[in-house]
Formats: sequence, structure tokens, C-alpha cells
Amino acid sequence: MKTPVPDYLQHVLSACDANQKGQLANYIPELAQANPNRLALALATIDGTIYAAGDADVEFTIQSMSKPFAYALAIQTHGLQAVLEKVGVEPSGEAFNQISLDAEHAIPKNPMINSGAITTHSLLPYKKTVSRAEHLRRFLSELAGRELKFDEQVYASEVATAFRNRSIGYMLRTVGVLDQDPEDIVDGYIRQCAILVTVKDLARIASVFANGGVDARTGKRVLERSIVRQVLSVMMSCGMYDAAGDWLTSVGIPAKSGVAGGILGILPAQVGIAVFSPKLDTHGNSVRGVEIFERLSQDMGLHLMEGTPSAQTIVQSRYVVGECIVYELRGVLQFTESEMLLRILQDEAKGKAPILLDLTHLTLIHDVGARMLFEGVKRLKEDGHVLKVVDTERILSDVQIKGHKRCVVDQPLAQVLASYTASP
Ligand code: DON
Repeated sequence: MKTPVPDYLQHVLSACDANQKGQLANYIPELAQANPNRLALALATIDGTIYAAGDADVEFTIQSMSKPFAYALAIQTHGLQAVLEKVGVEPSGEAFNQISLDAEHAIPKNPMINSGAITTHSLLPYKKTVSRAEHLRRFLSELAGRELKFDEQVYASEVATAFRNRSIGYMLRTVGVLDQDPEDIVDGYIRQCAILVTVKDLARIASVFANGGVDARTGKRVLERSIVRQVLSVMMSCGMYDAAGDWLTSVGIPAKSGVAGGILGILPAQVGIAVFSPKLDTHGNSVRGVEIFERLSQDMGLHLMEGTPSAQTIVQSRYVVGECIVYELRGVLQFTESEMLLRILQDEAKGKAPILLDLTHLTLIHDVGARMLFEGVKRLKEDGHVLKVVDTERILSDVQIKGHKRCVVDQPLAQVLASYTASP
């Protein structure tokens, strides 16, 4: 059997193919030369599997879709607080290139509009020999799993006509949000926008964010979960500029568009999605891209506010071996599942029987899950039980385990059981 997912993606593209509405971006001369018929779609699951259809290997410039990633890298470099002092998180309801500041704090309203993105660019890591844009290119290349390049022609074309972005740069310098040469910063920002990607690259990058910052293909944590959460929150409220409310209600996926015609969406714990079709609506968002996302969201039930219920089957089985009571846990341990686990554990009678909590089949333990688990361990010990948490796959992080090391073992369950059931 062949999975129907690629056929479905092709079907969605065919259904949107006829839509010829919109205009090519013409304020960057090179983008006005784009082939308006290009159409591509890619979807990457959180384990890194990529499905694609249409012009999925055609490169185009990332443009404003670079903004959430620059924001992530700036936070990783300086910490969230330092970034928040320079750029806010309030939706602006304005066009992406509005020359504006937050009236109360005199800083850009958010990192998705140009004033915030130019400021965020100034916060990227920098060395004399490695520019800020190059740092971002390297970061995105790591996430994409291949070396991305700059489009020198698009870069030069935008630099030659970037009067509005320069105005924004000088405005930011005037009020002290920028403390460096605005020409350099705006130039670097334009270079950041000229990174070349395909929809497959974008979907793959998006899937690492959907996976909470861990690249499933390498197993490496690229970003802290808290940074991913911050970036996705801002994408959800500000990523589609003055169309953000429409997008939130009709699509409901944190997303970011770019004037070359790309839109990328990140659905936490599910998928990364990217589309490419160069003709834009009046907000600067790809017309067919928006239509594709609306269809995907509807057909595949991807709206964030649908609120997938928890699996609620945290205890896969409870059984007794010798005098040991074993709880095999499965799935994801967040608040809802921990509450259920503790409710089940509270029915254990007081006594001296060893209780083994086997985490081997858990896929994720949220911090609240770990805290509640160890609180349960403490209370069962107070009831007289001997407790062991069997963490063969080492799913608990060092921070989660802190203060509880003595009750955690990393041997396989059978070995732990043998140590209790072996005859003297
Ligand atoms: O700042 C600019 O004008 C562009 N280089 C990027 C803008 C953009 O992609 C807006 N998004 N839809």
C-alpha cells in the first residue's frame, strides 16, 4: 500500500491552481520577474518525514518568513527579557512596513512587522568575520539539513529600492531602539530576507519547531521549548499582519508569510507546512497560499483551537510480579495525564509493597508531569511503599530529576524486577 498523503497534497494544489487572483510583489524589482504560476506545497511531520507536491524543489527567497527564526535566534543569544526590552509582542493591526512604534513604550510593537524585524536583526549574533545574516543562514541551514544560499540578485534589487526600510531604520536610530548604524542593520535585514529556500526546507524547519525545538532526524535539541513557545505565540497573533484575525479564525495555525509568495505554518506537536505561490493579496500574503492553508486546516482538522483531547490512557497496564506492583505508563505526561495517574495511584492501599513506575513507553514528560509524578512518589513513600521510577530511555531531564535521583533507575524493567524478586 502507498500512503495517500502525497495524492491528497496534489489534489489540494490542483483545486487551487485555477485561482489567478493577486499581484506579484513589485516594490522589489527582482520579485516582479517571478514566474506567477509556480505552486508548491510541503508538509513535514514531527518525526521529520516530508511529503511534497508541485514545484517543491524550486527555490525562492524566504523574505519575512525569516522573521520568526531571527526572533528565536535573538532570544537564544540574549535571553527573552533583553529582547522584550527592544521589541514588544502586541499585534499591530498594521501593514508589515508601517513606520510605527508602540505609543506607550516607544519600541516596535512586535518582531513580525518590519520595525520589529529590523530591530530583531540587530540582536542576532555577530562577529567581525561573520555577519548577522550569515549567522541566521547557518542556523536555518542546520534546521533545513542542507546548506542554504543567499540570492544575491534579489538582495541587490531590494537594497537599491529599500527607501521605506531605511526610513524605519533611521526612525529606530532616532528614538534609540537601534544603537548602531541603521544602514548596516537594514542592509543585513535585507540580506536575511534573501536566503533561498524551497517549501521542503521550510516544512522541515517548521517541523523542528512543531516538535518543541528538537530535530527528530538528529535527535538534537536546537532550541529550548520556552523559546519555541514564545515564537509560535507571536506568529499566531502577529504573523499575518493586518490579516491576523481572519487567519486565526479561519486557519488557526501559527504562520508567517513572505512577499516572494511563501507561507509557512507550524502546528505544535503535529506538523510543519509550507506553500509557495508568488501572487499576493493586499496584505502581502500569497493568495493561493492562504486558500491552501484554509483547505488543509478544514480537511485535516488542524485548527489549533480544536483542542485535541488528551489520550487519557496514561496507565497502559498495572500488574503484580512477586510482591512488586508495576505501572507501565504510555504517551505524554502533561497536567491532564498526571492528574489521572495520581487519581489512580491514590487507590493503592497503604503497605510495604515496592511500586515500580515504568516510564519506558512515555514519549514526553512535561515539567508539570515530572513534578506531579515525584509528588506522587513522595506520598506513596509516606504510605510505606518502596518506590522506583524506571527511566530506561532517560526521558526525564536533569532539571526534572533534580532532588529525586535516588528513586530513579535507568536499568530495563526486567532487571529492576529481578533485583526485587531474586530469592535470597
Ligand atoms: O522588508 C521587506 O520589505 C521584505 N524584504 C520582506 C517583507 C515581507 O516579506 C512581508 N511579508 N509578507
